[in-house]
Amino acid sequence: MNKIRFGLIGCGDIAHIRYFYSIPHFEEIELVGIYDMNKPFLQKTAEELGVKAFNSYEEMLDDPTIDAVIVTTYHPSHTPLAIQALKAGKHVISEKPVSVSIEQAKQLKEAAAQTDKVFMAMPNDAYPQIEKVKELIEQGIIGEVCAIDSVFAHHGPLHAPWFFDYEKAQWGVLADLGVYSISTLSYLFGPVARVYGETRCFEKRRVSDAGEEFIPSVEDNVAATLVWDDGKVATMRSNWCTGVHKDHGLWRFTFNGSKGIIHLDMARTDHPIIVVSPNCEIPGAEKVSFMGQDYCYSVSVGKVDNNDSVLELFLDAIKNNRKFPDNGCSIVRQNHVIEIIDRIYESSRTGKAYEITSKF
Ligand SMILES: NC(=O)c1ccc[n+]([C@@H]2O[C@H](COP(=O)([O-])OP(=O)(O)OC[C@H]3O[C@@H](n4cnc5c(N)ncnc54)[C@H](O)[C@@H]3O)[C@@H](O)[C@H]2O)c1
Repeated sequence: MNKIRFGLIGCGDIAHIRYFYSIPHFEEIELVGIYDMNKPFLQKTAEELGVKAFNSYEEMLDDPTIDAVIVTTYHPSHTPLAIQALKAGKHVISEKPVSVSIEQAKQLKEAAAQTDKVFMAMPNDAYPQIEKVKELIEQGIIGEVCAIDSVFAHHGPLHAPWFFDYEKAQWGVLADLGVYSISTLSYLFGPVARVYGETRCFEKRRVSDAGEEFIPSVEDNVAATLVWDDGKVATMRSNWCTGVHKDHGLWRFTFNGSKGIIHLDMARTDHPIIVVSPNCEIPGAEKVSFMGQDYCYSVSVGKVDNNDSVLELFLDAIKNNRKFPDNGCSIVRQNHVIEIIDRIYESSRTGKAYEITSKF
């Protein structure tokens, strides 16, 4: 079988830690070339990887031998680049947030509907830990889920000060970290009906990893409430003000159910899922003591590589010639996520709650 030939636009942090790391793990993929607007950095990266440095992203999209394009640039360019790549007949992965406005997300949804190519809209939620929690909830292990607390926090993407710059990023921590919690909650519980929230800038001065001082012009702290039609509610908190490095952030969910609780810690590799189940044992799970309680169970998900699982899903969709279902890594669901984010910003400005109109 011919290899699937990839190009990547935006060769920064996530390009390295996810895509350049994962691509060699898949023998069906060949990274052919890359593009970055920072030309010296582009040349250096292309030499390190032994791939072509395209002169422009247009040159990459015009190359008929490129089958798939990964977009890992600054947030506001995700939608325009993804649309152009889809129109050029490429399969596309767009990093999160896929859009920075409801209008952009609508345009992207239309472009994805008009092509038979695969479009993977990040973030991915089909990680083994989240799939396992989905299964446990659907099996009724903790009964009816009435409430969820979610938090994603670290000291901020200080490797790249543009994240803090309204002109370059447009959206702050809500779109960087909050997007994960919102996406996972919609993946697990379906369309959100109503939201309200507060976004604030807490730390007024920052120092980047490179030692450069700067003043943020987007929010670094958000708390929001998400409500479903059945009365279920979730809190979503994210901030860039918590004293841990971004690669070791606090990324947790607590699912409160009528028969028990599930604690999901995405940062833990040893015991990511702890089920508090006072009334029944969890078959196949290891009994553990947790927070002083002895009716707790650690549910194993085996070895997890959250980076590889993104490309695994993308390849599977390309090879089987199928689009992502609307409740998967689809633009239909991310369109919903983008509307929620947009409405939380609006709620913070007006003090009002907003109904969410998009469904999936
Ligand atoms: N870093 C992470 O852990 C992480 C994780 C998941 C998703 N993301 C998303 O990936 C995107 C990139 O984040 P990052 O941390 O890699 O940033 P980064 O600053 O490290 O890298 C971005 C790169 O894209 C290039 N670039 C920006 N706009 C461009 C354009 N229009 N054309 C060509 N090149 C362009 C920049 O020169 C830079 O080299 C963000 O939208 C972020 O939300 C990042």
